[in-house]
Amino acid sequence: MCILFKLMLLYLWVHWVNQGSDFVTGGSGNVTSGTVFVNGTASIGKTDDNFICATLDWWPANKCDYGTCSWERASLLNLDLSNPILLNAIKAFSPLKIRMGGTLQDKVIYETKDDKSPCAPFVKNSSEMFGFSEGCLPMSRWEQLNVFFKKAGAMVVFGLNALSGRTIGSDGSAIGAWNSSNAESLIRYAVNKGYIIHGWELGNELCGTGVGAKVAPDQYASDVKSLENIVQNIYRGFEVKPLVIAPGGFIDTNWFAQFIQRTPKSLQVVTQHIYNLGPDGGAQPFRDLEAILKNSATPAVAWVGEAGGAYNSGQNLVTNSFVNAFWYLDQLGMASSYDTKTYCRQTLIGGNYGLLDTATFVPNPDYYGYELNSFVFKR
Ligand SMILES: *[C@@H]1O[C@H](CO)[C@@H](O)[C@H](O)[C@H]1NC(C)=O
Ligand SMILES: *[C@@H]1O[C@H](CO)[C@@H](O)[C@H](O)[C@H]1NC(C)=O
Ligand SMILES: *[C@@H]1O[C@H](CO)[C@@H](O)[C@H](O)[C@H]1NC(C)=O
Ligand SMILES: *[C@@H]1O[C@H](CO)[C@@H](O)[C@H](O)[C@H]1NC(C)=O
Repeated sequence: MCILFKLMLLYLWVHWVNQGSDFVTGGSGNVTSGTVFVNGTASIGKTDDNFICATLDWWPANKCDYGTCSWERASLLNLDLSNPILLNAIKAFSPLKIRMGGTLQDKVIYETKDDKSPCAPFVKNSSEMFGFSEGCLPMSRWEQLNVFFKKAGAMVVFGLNALSGRTIGSDGSAIGAWNSSNAESLIRYAVNKGYIIHGWELGNELCGTGVGAKVAPDQYASDVKSLENIVQNIYRGFEVKPLVIAPGGFIDTNWFAQFIQRTPKSLQVVTQHIYNLGPDGGAQPFRDLEAILKNSATPAVAWVGEAGGAYNSGQNLVTNSFVNAFWYLDQLGMASSYDTKTYCRQTLIGGNYGLLDTATFVPNPDYYGYELNSFVFKR
Protein backbone atom coordinates (compact mmCIF):
# COMPACT_ATOMS: atom_id res chain seq x y z
CA MET A 1 0.00 0.00 0.00
CA CYS A 2 1.25 3.45 -0.86
CA ILE A 3 2.71 5.26 2.10
CA LEU A 4 0.71 8.39 1.36
CA PHE A 5 -2.50 6.49 1.41
CA LYS A 6 -1.61 5.08 4.78
CA LEU A 7 -0.63 8.51 5.97
CA MET A 8 -4.04 9.87 5.07
CA LEU A 9 -5.75 6.90 6.65
CA LEU A 10 -3.92 7.58 9.87
CA TYR A 11 -4.74 11.26 9.69
CA LEU A 12 -8.40 10.58 9.11
CA TRP A 13 -8.43 7.94 11.82
CA VAL A 14 -6.97 10.40 14.27
CA HIS A 15 -9.49 13.05 13.32
CA TRP A 16 -12.27 10.55 13.53
CA VAL A 17 -11.12 9.63 17.03
CA ASN A 18 -10.91 13.30 17.95
CA GLN A 19 -14.32 14.05 16.59
CA GLY A 20 -15.95 10.86 17.75
CA SER A 21 -18.40 12.84 19.85
CA ASP A 22 -19.81 14.46 16.71
CA PHE A 23 -20.56 11.08 15.26
CA VAL A 24 -22.33 9.64 18.25
CA THR A 25 -24.84 11.89 19.95
CA GLY A 26 -27.42 11.42 22.63
CA GLY A 27 -28.17 8.21 24.43
CA SER A 28 -28.22 4.59 23.32
CA GLY A 29 -29.36 3.94 19.80
CA ASN A 30 -28.91 7.51 18.57
CA VAL A 31 -25.98 6.90 16.26
CA THR A 32 -25.19 8.96 13.21
CA SER A 33 -23.08 7.16 10.68
CA GLY A 34 -20.69 8.92 8.32
CA THR A 35 -18.64 7.97 5.29
CA VAL A 36 -14.96 8.69 4.95
CA PHE A 37 -13.57 9.01 1.45
CA VAL A 38 -9.83 8.79 0.97
CA ASN A 39 -8.48 10.17 -2.29
CA GLY A 40 -5.39 8.03 -2.74
CA THR A 41 -4.23 9.58 -6.02
CA ALA A 42 -3.16 12.98 -4.73
CA SER A 43 -0.12 13.06 -2.48
CA ILE A 44 0.01 15.82 0.12
CA GLY A 45 3.35 14.96 1.67
CA LYS A 46 5.95 12.25 2.00
CA THR A 47 7.67 11.26 5.22
CA ASP A 48 11.01 9.56 5.74
CA ASP A 49 10.75 5.77 5.86
CA ASN A 50 11.63 6.13 9.51
CA PHE A 51 9.37 9.00 10.44
CA ILE A 52 9.45 8.10 14.10
CA CYS A 53 12.09 9.44 16.41
CA ALA A 54 12.50 9.92 20.15
CA THR A 55 14.87 12.04 22.19
CA LEU A 56 17.27 11.53 25.05
CA ASP A 57 18.18 14.54 27.14
CA TRP A 58 20.95 15.69 29.46
CA TRP A 59 18.92 16.74 32.51
CA PRO A 60 20.35 15.33 35.74
CA ALA A 61 18.26 13.89 38.59
CA ASN A 62 18.20 17.20 40.46
CA LYS A 63 16.46 19.06 37.61
CA CYS A 64 13.11 19.92 39.16
CA ASP A 65 10.04 21.84 37.93
CA TYR A 66 7.27 23.17 40.17
CA GLY A 67 8.67 21.12 43.05
CA THR A 68 8.77 17.83 41.11
CA CYS A 69 11.97 16.13 40.06
CA SER A 70 11.01 13.86 37.18
CA TRP A 71 14.30 12.90 35.52
CA GLU A 72 15.81 10.39 37.93
CA ARG A 73 18.52 8.48 36.06
CA ALA A 74 17.42 9.27 32.52
CA SER A 75 20.24 11.59 31.54
CA LEU A 76 22.52 10.73 28.63
CA LEU A 77 25.23 10.76 31.28
CA ASN A 78 23.71 8.14 33.59
CA LEU A 79 20.88 6.24 31.87
CA ASP A 80 21.14 2.49 32.51
CA LEU A 81 22.06 1.23 29.06
CA SER A 82 22.06 -2.38 30.25
CA ASN A 83 18.30 -2.35 30.93
CA PRO A 84 16.76 -4.96 28.60
CA ILE A 85 13.45 -3.08 28.28
CA LEU A 86 15.30 -0.04 26.97
CA LEU A 87 17.15 -2.11 24.40
CA ASN A 88 14.03 -3.95 23.24
CA ALA A 89 11.93 -0.79 23.15
CA ILE A 90 14.34 0.73 20.64
CA LYS A 91 14.88 -2.50 18.71
CA ALA A 92 11.13 -2.86 18.19
CA PHE A 93 11.23 0.12 15.83
CA SER A 94 14.45 -0.75 14.16
CA PRO A 95 15.58 1.66 13.01
CA LEU A 96 14.34 4.24 15.50
CA LYS A 97 15.86 7.69 15.18
CA ILE A 98 17.27 8.96 18.46
CA ARG A 99 17.99 12.63 18.89
CA MET A 100 20.38 13.39 21.73
CA GLY A 101 20.00 16.94 22.95
CA GLY A 102 17.99 19.44 24.95
CA THR A 103 18.55 22.59 26.93
CA LEU A 104 21.83 21.61 28.56
CA GLN A 105 23.40 20.53 25.25
CA ASP A 106 24.68 24.09 24.85
CA LYS A 107 26.56 23.67 28.13
CA VAL A 108 28.20 20.32 27.38
CA ILE A 109 31.98 20.08 27.05
CA TYR A 110 33.36 17.01 25.30
CA GLU A 111 36.34 15.40 26.95
CA THR A 112 39.46 15.55 24.80
CA LYS A 113 42.97 14.15 25.12
CA ASP A 114 44.58 17.58 25.46
CA ASP A 115 42.12 18.87 28.06
CA LYS A 116 43.84 18.49 31.41
CA SER A 117 40.90 19.70 33.54
CA PRO A 118 38.71 16.96 35.08
CA CYS A 119 35.64 15.87 33.11
CA ALA A 120 33.04 16.99 35.70
CA PRO A 121 29.26 16.53 35.57
CA PHE A 122 26.63 19.34 35.68
CA VAL A 123 26.33 21.04 39.06
CA LYS A 124 23.10 22.71 40.13
CA ASN A 125 23.65 26.45 40.47
CA SER A 126 20.74 28.87 40.33
CA SER A 127 22.96 31.77 39.27
CA GLU A 128 23.91 29.96 36.05
CA MET A 129 21.89 30.01 32.82
CA PHE A 130 19.44 27.04 32.87
CA GLY A 131 20.24 26.51 36.57
CA PHE A 132 23.30 24.33 36.03
CA SER A 133 27.01 24.71 35.48
CA GLU A 134 28.70 23.36 32.38
CA GLY A 135 29.00 19.57 32.34
CA CYS A 136 31.41 17.25 30.60
CA LEU A 137 30.77 14.20 28.42
CA PRO A 138 33.52 11.65 29.12
CA MET A 139 34.70 9.78 26.03
CA SER A 140 34.08 6.51 27.89
CA ARG A 141 30.38 7.44 28.09
CA TRP A 142 30.33 8.56 24.45
CA GLU A 143 31.63 5.12 23.59
CA GLN A 144 28.99 3.35 25.74
CA LEU A 145 26.22 5.35 24.10
CA ASN A 146 27.42 4.58 20.60
CA VAL A 147 27.93 0.89 21.31
CA PHE A 148 24.43 0.73 22.79
CA PHE A 149 22.76 2.52 19.87
CA LYS A 150 24.52 0.30 17.39
CA LYS A 151 23.31 -2.79 19.23
CA ALA A 152 19.77 -1.35 19.36
CA GLY A 153 19.86 -0.48 15.66
CA ALA A 154 19.12 3.21 16.26
CA MET A 155 19.89 6.08 13.88
CA VAL A 156 21.60 8.69 15.95
CA VAL A 157 21.34 12.46 15.76
CA PHE A 158 23.63 14.33 18.12
CA GLY A 159 23.01 17.93 19.20
CA LEU A 160 26.24 19.91 19.44
CA ASN A 161 26.96 22.75 21.85
CA ALA A 162 26.42 25.92 19.80
CA LEU A 163 27.29 28.38 22.58
CA SER A 164 30.87 27.23 22.72
CA GLY A 165 33.17 30.25 22.52
CA ARG A 166 30.44 32.88 22.83
CA THR A 167 29.57 35.22 25.65
CA ILE A 168 25.96 35.98 26.57
CA GLY A 169 24.90 39.62 26.79
CA SER A 170 22.46 40.95 29.41
CA ASP A 171 19.52 40.62 26.95
CA GLY A 172 20.43 37.01 26.19
CA SER A 173 22.15 37.78 22.88
CA ALA A 174 25.05 35.46 22.22
CA ILE A 175 28.06 37.46 21.13
CA GLY A 176 30.74 36.19 18.80
CA ALA A 177 31.11 33.25 16.44
CA TRP A 178 30.74 29.57 17.33
CA ASN A 179 34.04 28.03 18.42
CA SER A 180 33.87 24.66 16.71
CA SER A 181 37.10 23.17 18.03
CA ASN A 182 35.60 21.03 20.81
CA ALA A 183 32.79 19.81 18.52
CA GLU A 184 35.32 19.01 15.83
CA SER A 185 37.28 16.85 18.25
CA LEU A 186 34.09 14.96 19.19
CA ILE A 187 33.24 14.36 15.52
CA ARG A 188 36.79 13.19 14.76
CA TYR A 189 36.66 10.85 17.72
CA ALA A 190 33.39 9.36 16.42
CA VAL A 191 34.84 8.84 12.95
CA ASN A 192 38.06 7.31 14.26
CA LYS A 193 36.05 4.86 16.37
CA GLY A 194 33.72 3.99 13.50
CA TYR A 195 30.54 5.29 15.18
CA ILE A 196 27.81 5.95 12.65
CA ILE A 197 26.12 9.29 13.27
CA HIS A 198 23.07 10.00 11.10
CA GLY A 199 23.11 13.73 11.74
CA TRP A 200 24.93 16.49 13.60
CA GLU A 201 22.60 19.17 14.89
CA LEU A 202 23.86 22.58 15.90
CA GLY A 203 22.32 24.22 18.96
CA ASN A 204 19.13 23.96 20.96
CA GLU A 205 16.45 26.68 21.10
CA LEU A 206 18.81 29.56 20.30
CA CYS A 207 16.76 30.79 17.31
CA GLY A 208 14.22 33.61 17.31
CA THR A 209 13.89 35.08 20.79
CA GLY A 210 15.73 32.04 22.13
CA VAL A 211 15.38 30.17 25.39
CA GLY A 212 18.05 31.51 27.73
CA ALA A 213 20.22 32.77 24.87
CA LYS A 214 19.70 33.70 21.24
CA VAL A 215 21.86 33.84 18.13
CA ALA A 216 21.09 36.15 15.17
CA PRO A 217 20.15 34.37 11.92
CA ASP A 218 23.14 35.60 9.87
CA GLN A 219 25.60 34.52 12.57
CA TYR A 220 23.81 31.16 12.93
CA ALA A 221 23.96 30.64 9.17
CA SER A 222 27.69 31.25 9.17
CA ASP A 223 28.14 28.82 12.09
CA VAL A 224 26.18 26.17 10.17
CA LYS A 225 28.53 26.71 7.22
CA SER A 226 31.45 26.06 9.57
CA LEU A 227 29.81 22.83 10.71
CA GLU A 228 29.16 21.78 7.12
CA ASN A 229 32.83 22.42 6.26
CA ILE A 230 33.96 20.34 9.23
CA VAL A 231 31.64 17.48 8.26
CA GLN A 232 32.73 17.59 4.60
CA ASN A 233 36.34 17.63 5.66
CA ILE A 234 36.25 14.90 8.31
CA TYR A 235 33.99 12.61 6.28
CA ARG A 236 35.91 13.10 3.04
CA GLY A 237 35.69 9.94 0.96
CA PHE A 238 32.66 8.62 2.87
CA GLU A 239 29.87 7.51 0.57
CA VAL A 240 27.22 8.60 3.06
CA LYS A 241 27.91 11.72 5.09
CA PRO A 242 25.91 12.73 8.15
CA LEU A 243 23.18 15.32 7.80
CA VAL A 244 23.79 18.87 8.97
CA ILE A 245 20.79 19.89 11.04
CA ALA A 246 19.71 23.18 12.70
CA PRO A 247 18.45 25.22 14.49
CA GLY A 248 16.35 23.03 16.80
CA GLY A 249 14.02 25.64 18.24
CA PHE A 250 10.61 27.30 18.21
CA ILE A 251 9.54 28.70 14.89
CA ASP A 252 9.85 32.43 14.42
CA THR A 253 8.97 32.96 10.78
CA ASN A 254 11.22 35.98 10.14
CA TRP A 255 14.20 34.38 11.84
CA PHE A 256 13.70 31.04 10.07
CA ALA A 257 13.19 32.67 6.66
CA GLN A 258 16.42 34.68 6.99
CA PHE A 259 18.36 31.73 8.31
CA ILE A 260 17.20 29.40 5.54
CA GLN A 261 17.87 31.97 2.87
CA ARG A 262 21.49 32.18 4.08
CA THR A 263 22.10 28.41 4.23
CA PRO A 264 21.18 27.29 0.70
CA LYS A 265 23.95 24.70 0.48
CA SER A 266 25.06 23.92 4.01
CA LEU A 267 21.87 22.73 5.68
CA GLN A 268 20.00 19.48 5.02
CA VAL A 269 17.37 19.50 7.76
CA VAL A 270 15.53 22.35 9.47
CA THR A 271 14.34 21.32 12.94
CA GLN A 272 11.59 22.96 14.92
CA HIS A 273 10.40 22.26 18.46
CA ILE A 274 6.74 22.02 19.43
CA TYR A 275 5.17 22.33 22.89
CA ASN A 276 1.58 23.20 22.08
CA LEU A 277 -0.58 20.85 24.10
CA GLY A 278 -3.74 22.80 24.92
CA PRO A 279 -5.72 25.46 23.10
CA ASP A 280 -3.20 26.14 20.33
CA GLY A 281 -2.39 22.56 19.38
CA GLY A 282 -3.05 23.32 15.72
CA ALA A 283 -1.23 23.09 12.43
CA GLN A 284 0.25 26.60 12.29
CA PRO A 285 3.90 25.71 13.04
CA PHE A 286 3.88 22.95 10.41
CA ARG A 287 2.16 25.18 7.88
CA ASP A 288 4.60 28.04 8.54
CA LEU A 289 7.72 25.95 8.12
CA GLU A 290 6.39 24.21 5.01
CA ALA A 291 5.65 27.62 3.44
CA ILE A 292 9.12 28.98 4.26
CA LEU A 293 10.81 25.95 2.71
CA LYS A 294 8.59 26.05 -0.38
CA ASN A 295 9.33 29.74 -0.91
CA SER A 296 13.09 29.29 -0.70
CA ALA A 297 15.65 27.62 -2.91
CA THR A 298 16.85 25.34 -0.12
CA PRO A 299 16.87 21.58 -0.58
CA ALA A 300 16.52 21.28 3.23
CA VAL A 301 13.54 19.39 4.66
CA ALA A 302 11.50 19.91 7.82
CA TRP A 303 11.68 17.80 10.94
CA VAL A 304 10.19 18.19 14.36
CA GLY A 305 13.36 17.80 16.40
CA GLU A 306 11.68 17.83 19.79
CA ALA A 307 8.03 17.81 20.86
CA GLY A 308 6.76 16.89 24.29
CA GLY A 309 3.37 18.57 24.60
CA ALA A 310 4.01 20.44 27.85
CA TYR A 311 7.39 22.11 28.38
CA ASN A 312 9.34 22.10 31.66
CA SER A 313 9.48 18.29 31.76
CA GLY A 314 5.83 17.55 30.93
CA GLN A 315 2.95 17.02 33.36
CA ASN A 316 2.53 13.88 35.40
CA LEU A 317 -0.73 11.98 34.67
CA VAL A 318 -1.20 13.93 31.42
CA THR A 319 1.79 13.69 29.09
CA ASN A 320 2.58 10.18 30.31
CA SER A 321 -0.99 8.89 30.24
CA PHE A 322 -3.51 7.60 27.71
CA VAL A 323 -5.19 10.96 27.23
CA ASN A 324 -2.00 12.39 25.71
CA ALA A 325 -2.47 10.14 22.67
CA PHE A 326 -5.20 12.49 21.43
CA TRP A 327 -2.62 15.26 21.14
CA TYR A 328 0.21 13.03 20.05
CA LEU A 329 -1.39 10.98 17.28
CA ASP A 330 -3.02 14.11 15.91
CA GLN A 331 0.45 15.71 15.84
CA LEU A 332 1.96 12.80 13.94
CA GLY A 333 -0.80 12.90 11.36
CA MET A 334 -0.71 16.68 11.02
CA ALA A 335 3.07 16.85 10.82
CA SER A 336 3.16 14.35 7.98
CA SER A 337 0.39 16.10 6.09
CA TYR A 338 2.54 19.27 6.07
CA ASP A 339 5.51 17.39 4.66
CA THR A 340 7.44 16.99 7.91
CA LYS A 341 9.83 14.10 7.34
CA THR A 342 10.60 13.05 10.91
CA TYR A 343 8.96 13.71 14.27
CA CYS A 344 11.00 13.36 17.47
CA ARG A 345 9.07 12.79 20.66
CA GLN A 346 10.47 14.31 23.84
CA THR A 347 11.40 11.88 25.37
CA LEU A 348 12.15 8.23 24.90
CA ILE A 349 12.70 8.22 28.65
CA GLY A 350 12.98 11.01 31.22
CA GLY A 351 10.69 13.73 32.55
CA ASN A 352 6.92 13.26 32.63
CA TYR A 353 6.62 12.83 28.88
CA GLY A 354 8.65 9.70 28.32
CA LEU A 355 7.47 6.94 26.01
CA LEU A 356 8.94 4.74 28.74
CA ASP A 357 8.36 5.19 32.45
CA THR A 358 11.39 6.93 33.96
CA ALA A 359 11.62 4.66 36.99
CA THR A 360 10.56 1.25 35.65
CA PHE A 361 11.26 1.59 31.88
CA VAL A 362 7.82 0.07 31.28
CA PRO A 363 6.16 1.62 28.19
CA ASN A 364 3.63 4.42 28.73
CA PRO A 365 0.49 4.49 26.53
CA ASP A 366 2.08 6.74 23.88
CA TYR A 367 4.72 4.11 23.22
CA TYR A 368 1.91 1.98 21.81
CA GLY A 369 0.68 5.00 19.89
CA TYR A 370 4.07 4.99 18.23
CA GLU A 371 3.73 1.27 17.60
CA LEU A 372 0.36 1.90 15.97
CA ASN A 373 1.77 4.71 13.86
CA SER A 374 4.72 2.66 12.72
CA PHE A 375 2.45 -0.30 11.96
CA VAL A 376 0.24 1.89 9.78
CA PHE A 377 3.28 3.35 8.06
CA LYS A 378 5.09 0.12 7.36
CA ARG A 379 5.64 -0.25 3.65
C1 LIG B 1 -30.46 12.22 18.47
O1 LIG B 1 -29.58 13.10 17.78
C2 LIG B 1 -30.22 14.14 17.07
C3 LIG B 1 -29.15 14.90 16.28
O2 LIG B 1 -28.12 15.35 17.13
C4 LIG B 1 -30.99 15.02 18.04
O3 LIG B 1 -31.67 16.01 17.33
C5 LIG B 1 -31.98 14.18 18.83
O4 LIG B 1 -32.60 14.97 19.82
C6 LIG B 1 -31.28 12.97 19.49
N1 LIG B 1 -32.26 12.13 20.12
C7 LIG B 1 -32.12 11.64 21.34
C8 LIG B 1 -33.22 10.70 21.81
O5 LIG B 1 -31.13 11.88 22.05
C1 LIG C 1 -8.48 13.11 -6.26
O1 LIG C 1 -7.48 14.10 -6.33
C2 LIG C 1 -7.08 14.40 -7.64
C3 LIG C 1 -5.90 15.37 -7.58
O2 LIG C 1 -6.17 16.46 -6.71
C4 LIG C 1 -8.26 14.99 -8.41
O3 LIG C 1 -7.86 15.29 -9.74
C5 LIG C 1 -9.39 13.98 -8.42
O4 LIG C 1 -10.53 14.55 -9.02
C6 LIG C 1 -9.74 13.54 -7.00
N1 LIG C 1 -10.72 12.45 -7.08
C7 LIG C 1 -11.89 12.53 -6.52
C8 LIG C 1 -12.78 11.34 -6.69
O5 LIG C 1 -12.26 13.50 -5.86
C1 LIG D 1 27.52 29.45 40.73
O1 LIG D 1 27.70 30.20 39.55
C2 LIG D 1 28.23 31.49 39.78
C3 LIG D 1 28.18 32.23 38.45
O2 LIG D 1 28.87 31.54 37.43
C4 LIG D 1 29.62 31.35 40.36
O3 LIG D 1 30.17 32.63 40.60
C5 LIG D 1 29.55 30.55 41.64
O4 LIG D 1 30.84 30.29 42.13
C6 LIG D 1 28.85 29.23 41.41
N1 LIG D 1 28.60 28.58 42.70
C7 LIG D 1 29.05 27.36 42.98
C8 LIG D 1 28.68 26.81 44.30
O5 LIG D 1 29.71 26.70 42.16
C1 LIG E 1 38.43 27.71 20.61
O1 LIG E 1 38.47 26.97 21.79
C2 LIG E 1 39.73 26.32 22.02
C3 LIG E 1 39.59 25.51 23.30
O2 LIG E 1 38.55 24.59 23.19
C4 LIG E 1 40.84 27.33 22.12
O3 LIG E 1 42.05 26.65 22.26
C5 LIG E 1 40.86 28.19 20.87
O4 LIG E 1 41.80 29.21 21.02
C6 LIG E 1 39.48 28.79 20.60
N1 LIG E 1 39.50 29.47 19.32
C7 LIG E 1 39.14 30.72 19.18
C8 LIG E 1 39.18 31.25 17.78
O5 LIG E 1 38.82 31.41 20.11
